[in-house]
Amino acid sequence: MEMNIALLPGDGIGPEVIAQAVKVVKAVGQKFGHQITFKEGLVGACAIDATGDPYPDATHEICAASDAVLFGAIGDPKYDNDPKAKVRPEQGLLRMRQKLGLFANVRPTFTFPSLVHKSPLKLERVDGVDFVFFRELTGGVYFGEPRGRNEQGTKAFDTNVYSKEEVVRLARMGFEAAQKRRKLLTCVDKANVMATSRLWRETVQELAAEYPDVKVEYEFVDAVAMRLIQWPKAYDVLITENLFGDILTDEASVISGSMGLMPSASLGSKVKLFEPIHGSYPQAAGKDIANPLATVLSAAMMFEYAFDMKEEAQAISDVVNLSLAEGVVTEDIAEGGKAYKTSEVGDWLAAKILG
Ligand code: IPM
Ligand code: MG
Repeated sequence: MEMNIALLPGDGIGPEVIAQAVKVVKAVGQKFGHQITFKEGLVGACAIDATGDPYPDATHEICAASDAVLFGAIGDPKYDNDPKAKVRPEQGLLRMRQKLGLFANVRPTFTFPSLVHKSPLKLERVDGVDFVFFRELTGGVYFGEPRGRNEQGTKAFDTNVYSKEEVVRLARMGFEAAQKRRKLLTCVDKANVMATSRLWRETVQELAAEYPDVKVEYEFVDAVAMRLIQWPKAYDVLITENLFGDILTDEASVISGSMGLMPSASLGSKVKLFEPIHGSYPQAAGKDIANPLATVLSAAMMFEYAFDMKEEAQAISDVVNLSLAEGVVTEDIAEGGKAYKTSEVGDWLAAKILG
């Protein structure tokens, strides 16, 4: 099959981890006989430096013409420490999500047996955890109008807005995912306080009739924040709005002890985007020490979600598991064993796929 992949390495360690994913994707292409073409674009702080725009039109054109986007990371301390900066790398990310129609962010949490002891939770609570968040990504308070300040600058406001249609399309993805998994869907909202949340709950209740095989639970976001830590194994598929999802998926990412390993996908239209959930880690940039596995696993998600190639995805997961079992890992998880360089891990994974 022919596959056109847009590469957006971004900032910090982004270029290094993307380079390893490319090695792995090329190896998979060679092994399974796919014709893969890569095109690279600028996004984030590096795009601002080069063009003044964190998501230049040229980058959007590359993405829109591709089948899938592999994204590294964005962010630079020079912007984080300047709240008055007019152009910010994050604006590029939000505009990209909106322009590509990526309304669903899929963030799984699962455990790796060799790393589960690194979880901040007790082993028996977390061993075997396997749930996935479907976070709404192009609506809610991130995009709602009006937003801003009053004339004196002494009051600020953001607006949380959802249409029924936005809830329906996200919820359907959650229901369909639950049907393929353990058939449990949790709708996370704040329906005891917020009008938007009541629309979410009412809409999900209506849809539930179409998915009789899926058990639906409704929980308030504050309770979920607590229960994710207490009983993470109680969850299967969770659906939620943009801001709640932003917060809870960061919480979820540390539960398994493998924050550096968690991949994610953003779906919604023809072009799908895949990225590690970690950030740009500027302190490590250029040192060849960053852990590339989350990006490599994001490439595995790409094969599964963008190309419906389960075998290819599995081949990547298998070699990642092998690298963990054999200790071919970067310093963050080497635990006294040999610490491999980012590039060495990528080379090893690619060679194993072909081997
Ligand atoms: C994420 C990030 C972004 C978000 C930031 C960088 C704008 O935290 O992808 O979760 O809030 O969506
Ligand atoms: Mg976030």
